[in-house]
Amino acid sequence: MGKYFVTTPIYYVNDVPHIGTAYPTVAADVVARFHRMMGDLVRMSTGTDENATKVARVALQRGEQPKAFVDGMAAAFQDTWRRMNIQYDDFVRTTEPRQHAAVQRFIETLYARGDVYYAEYEGWYCIPCETHYLEGQLTEGNCPECGRGVEWMKEPGYFFRLSQYTEPLLDYIAAHPDWLQPEYRKNEVVAFLKGGLRDVNITRKSDWGIPVPAALPNSAGLVIYVWYDALINYITSAGYPDAPTEFAQWWPADAHLVGKDIFTRFHATLWPAMLMAAGLPLPETVVAHGYWTIGGEKISKSKHGGKGFRINPLDLAQELTDAAGCTFDIAVDALRYFLLREMPFGADGDFSLEAVYRRYNNDLGNDLGNLVNRTVTMIDRYCGGVIPAVAEVLPEAGHAAKLVEAHLGGRVVNYMEALKAVWELLSYLNRYIEESAPWKLQKAGDTDAVARVMYTLAEGLRHAAVLLYPVMPTAAARIAAQIGWAHPTWTWSSLAWGGLRPGTQIAAAGPIFPRILETGAPTVEPTPEIPAPAPAPAPTEAPAPAPEIAQITIDDFAKVQLKVGTILTAEKHPKADKLLKLQVDLGEETPRQIIAGIAAVYTPEALVGRQIIVVANLQPAKLRGEISQGMLLAASDGEGIAVLSPDKAVPNGSKVR
Ligand code: MSP
Repeated sequence: MGKYFVTTPIYYVNDVPHIGTAYPTVAADVVARFHRMMGDLVRMSTGTDENATKVARVALQRGEQPKAFVDGMAAAFQDTWRRMNIQYDDFVRTTEPRQHAAVQRFIETLYARGDVYYAEYEGWYCIPCETHYLEGQLTEGNCPECGRGVEWMKEPGYFFRLSQYTEPLLDYIAAHPDWLQPEYRKNEVVAFLKGGLRDVNITRKSDWGIPVPAALPNSAGLVIYVWYDALINYITSAGYPDAPTEFAQWWPADAHLVGKDIFTRFHATLWPAMLMAAGLPLPETVVAHGYWTIGGEKISKSKHGGKGFRINPLDLAQELTDAAGCTFDIAVDALRYFLLREMPFGADGDFSLEAVYRRYNNDLGNDLGNLVNRTVTMIDRYCGGVIPAVAEVLPEAGHAAKLVEAHLGGRVVNYMEALKAVWELLSYLNRYIEESAPWKLQKAGDTDAVARVMYTLAEGLRHAAVLLYPVMPTAAARIAAQIGWAHPTWTWSSLAWGGLRPGTQIAAAGPIFPRILETGAPTVEPTPEIPAPAPAPAPTEAPAPAPEIAQITIDDFAKVQLKVGTILTAEKHPKADKLLKLQVDLGEETPRQIIAGIAAVYTPEALVGRQIIVVANLQPAKLRGEISQGMLLAASDGEGIAVLSPDKAVPNGSKVR
C-alpha cells in the first residue's frame, strides 16, 4: 500500500467546462480510482484558476462583480465534475484564503533566499494567454500560442531568477528519464531549455489577484502573476505551508496531468524551477496530453474570440442518452470511455459525435453489452438462473488484469492500452461462446460442460467489470448486478478467480447500452421487451447496371459486416405493400428491426424462425416511416427473389466472410 497524489490543471473560469477540460479530469479520476482499488491512499486534486486578469475583465463585461462571477463558475465546474462521476478529493480555488496564504509564504521564502528580487520590467505580453514573450518568440509580431496581438508592458515589479535554473533542470531531466512524459515532449523541453531561460516578472499592477506580501518593499498595488499563483495550487492542496504532517504525507505529487500547451514553459520549466528555489521536491511525473479538435479546429475560447466550438460534456452525455435511450450515467461512462480509448493520451485527435456513437454501438453495445446479455440469458435458460460450480481458472482474465495494472499503475500511464487489454478479454469471451457452442452442449445433455462454460463467462465478465470500473463505474456496477454479484467490492484483490459464488441467483437480463438507431436523433423509444429496430434498403430493386464494375480490395469488403440472424417475428409494413417488418436476433442485446422489400414473394409466416444473412453495419434508415437497422441479403434476377440462408444452423451473430 502506498500513496498516490494526482492533479489536474486548475481551469480558468472565463470559460465553461468543455470536452478539452473534461479530458484531463476524467484521466485523473481514472488513475485515482485505480489506485484506490489497489488499496493506496489516494488524493486527486482539481480546481479553478480565478485570479487571471481576463477573469476580472469577463466578469465586468457581464456586469458582475468578479467574486460573484468566480463563485458561480467554480460551482459550475464542481457540478459538471460531480455529474461526470469524478471523485476528486480536493478542489482548490485560487481565491481561497489557503491559496493566498500559500502563495504569500512561497514568495516570502524565495525573497528571503534571493530568488525573487525587485526590478523594472519591459516586454511583450499576451493577455489572453497571460504569458510574456521575447521579441524573437513572437510569430509575425503576434502571440505564438493564440496568434492574437501582444501588448508592450513596462512596469516595475518582482522577478523570479528563472535564469539560474537552466542547468539544474537539464541535469534533473537527464537523471530522471521518465519524469517528463511522453518522451517526445521531453525532447521539446530539453530543446527549449537549451535556448536558455530569462528571469520572469511575477507581479502585475492590479486589484484582482493575490497581493504581494506587505512585508516586501514597494508591494502596494501589486498582485502575483496568475501563472506563478496557479502553479502553487498543487502544494496548497497538499497542505503547504501550515499543515506540515499532511504536506509530508502527500508531497511530492505522483503525477501532474496537463495539456501540451501548458507543459513546456509552465509545468516542465517554471514550476520545477520554483520548487527547486523553495527547496521542495519535484513531482514524480509530469505528463502532457494532446489536444481534442473539432473538425480540425482547436477548441478554445481565446482563439475563437469567445465564439469557438466548445462542447459541454453534460450536453454531450444528454445527447447520447436521448439517442440511445440509455441512462445518463451510462452515457457519462461511454464518454469517459471514448475520451481515453479513442486517441493515445499524448496525441491529438478530432472529436465528433459520430465517433462517440460508433464506439458506443460497437465497443460498448456489441462487444460488451451483448456479451453480458447473452451470458445472463443463457445462465437463465440453461442453469435456472443460478451461478454453477466454479470452473477452472481462465488465464486470459489474469492476463488482462496484469496488463491493466501495468498500464494504469506504472509510472508511465497508458489508458488506451489498458482498455485494449480489457477488450482482448471481451473478444476472447465472445469467441469462447461461439467455439464452445453451449446450445449444442445443452442439446447433447452435457450439463457439466454447460455449467463450465457458463461459470467461465460469468466470472470472466466479473473480472472485466472490475477492470473497467475505473473508467466506467456505472456500467461495471450494472454488469455486477446482472451476473448476480450483489455486493461488489471494487478492489484489485477481488480479482481472485472464483469470486462469483456458485448458487448465486443472477438478475434479469436488460440492455445496458441500448443500440443507437439513428445518429444524432433519438428516433425510437426503447422498451425493454419489445426491442426497437433495424433497417434495410429494399433488396427487390434490380441493381442499376454499372457500366464498369469497379474492383474492390479485401479491405473494402472487410468494411461490410455480414452476420447471421434468426427472424423472430415478421409482419406486413403498415404503410407499404411490398415491405415486411422483421425482428431479427443477431446475437445482440436487443433484436434489430429490418424492413425488407420481399412481401411480394414471402408471407410473414414463411419467414419466422428462419436464419438469414444481414448487413449489420449499414447506417439505419427510415423506410416509409419505419426504422430499418440492417439489410437482409437476397438473390434476385430482377423478377424472383430468394432470401439467403446458411445451409445449416449456426449461432446468431456468426460472422459471414
Ligand atoms: N489555468 C491554466 C492552468 C493552470 S494549472 C496550474 C489553464 N487553464 S485552461 O482552462 O485554459 O486549460 C486547462 C487545461 O485544459 C489545460 O491542460 C489544457 O491543455 C486543457 N485543454 C483545454 N482545451 C483542450 C482541448 N481542446 N483538448 C485537450 N485539452 C485541452 O491553462
